Amino acid sequence: MGAVVAYLDVAATTRVDPQVADVVLHWMTEDFGNAGSRTHEFGARAKKAVHEARSFLAGTVGAKTEEVIFTSGATESNNIALLGLAPHGEQTGRKHVITSAIEHKAVIEPLQHLKETRGFEVDFLEPGPSGRVSTEAVLERLRPDTLLVSLMHVNNETGVIQPVAELAEELRGTATYLHVDAAQGYGKVPQDLAAPIDLISISGHKIGAPKGIGALVTRRRGWDKVPLSPIMFGGGQERKLRPGTLPVALIMGLYEAVKLFLENRERWERDAREMREQMLAALGKTRFHLNGDASNSVPHILNVTFDGLNAEALIVRLKEQVAIATGSACTSASYTPSHVLMAMGLPAEIASNGLRFSWFPDQVGDFDPHGLAETIAHMQPDVATDR
Ligand SMILES: Cc1ncc(COP(=O)(O)O)c(C=O)c1O
Repeated sequence: MGAVVAYLDVAATTRVDPQVADVVLHWMTEDFGNAGSRTHEFGARAKKAVHEARSFLAGTVGAKTEEVIFTSGATESNNIALLGLAPHGEQTGRKHVITSAIEHKAVIEPLQHLKETRGFEVDFLEPGPSGRVSTEAVLERLRPDTLLVSLMHVNNETGVIQPVAELAEELRGTATYLHVDAAQGYGKVPQDLAAPIDLISISGHKIGAPKGIGALVTRRRGWDKVPLSPIMFGGGQERKLRPGTLPVALIMGLYEAVKLFLENRERWERDAREMREQMLAALGKTRFHLNGDASNSVPHILNVTFDGLNAEALIVRLKEQVAIATGSACTSASYTPSHVLMAMGLPAEIASNGLRFSWFPDQVGDFDPHGLAETIAHMQPDVATDR
């Protein structure tokens, strides 16, 4: 029997801490009331708890309590933000949108939808090999009819941090709204999200909360609300923008997970950085290409292509040691190159074989980067014999 497989795929999803699971269980089995029930104590307790969670989460991005809407995750938040702003663009004749070609599909597809079915013009900016879109490149594309800029906080494949805070300052006072998909960066690079960003999408399961919970922050500009139209209709919950009975237990799980993460953030960052250094030192045994600018990256995501090695074959080969992923989408018979690495202008050979390692240092057990590098080096025969 081999050793336990080390989980190095936190960019896909994270483990729920038992302390968080306990809180979720409590709000499912004991305080199980509907936060919308006005006629009894069960409802009142749930409502009060949700208010406390909302207020805490708002504080983490410097927003006001009423500016936070609970959703099922970043995909839904992105859809409410992007599709919800479209009617305002149509009414005001501002139908130009700027985004990047390295966004998650949960941004690219709603914007493609607006382009294909509602006559929006969408610029997809390519970042170049650094993987970082420049603020200047965005500003150069700004037009009087630019309704929205949508730029992700941290890229989910490379870990590269995008200049969202700088962009927010530049767009402050203009008529263009800024949406940031912060699924990967929320809590990890907290200072950025306190900037005057109009719309922020948050995903719970990337930060230790259960899957199926997230939030959208819709920050006011002075007294002016972001003019979002609902994309769903129902009981009017969440300022009518996300109708449906509030998942109180999941909301309380998100609250607990974020609290726990932020309490330990400094240690997390230090340990994640140390592990990154160990990984890079160990990988020195192999020949690899580092994808994206390491000096502008979160400490826990690393994207590399190993010379001459097929990423899918490598994942299968390493399966007993580590759980990792590629950025490539798998279609039935063939693997398409990662749209992120392609948009960075990397050659198809490199873009098709990128591997993403992502970790929470306290969850990798006795994972040994040197053992991993050793195995990979032996699969690169020319490298192995050189040593
Ligand atoms: C950048 C980014 N945006 C959006 C999502 C989707 O988030 P959720 O699973 O919460 O819908 C992810 C998750 O993979 C992501 O990495």
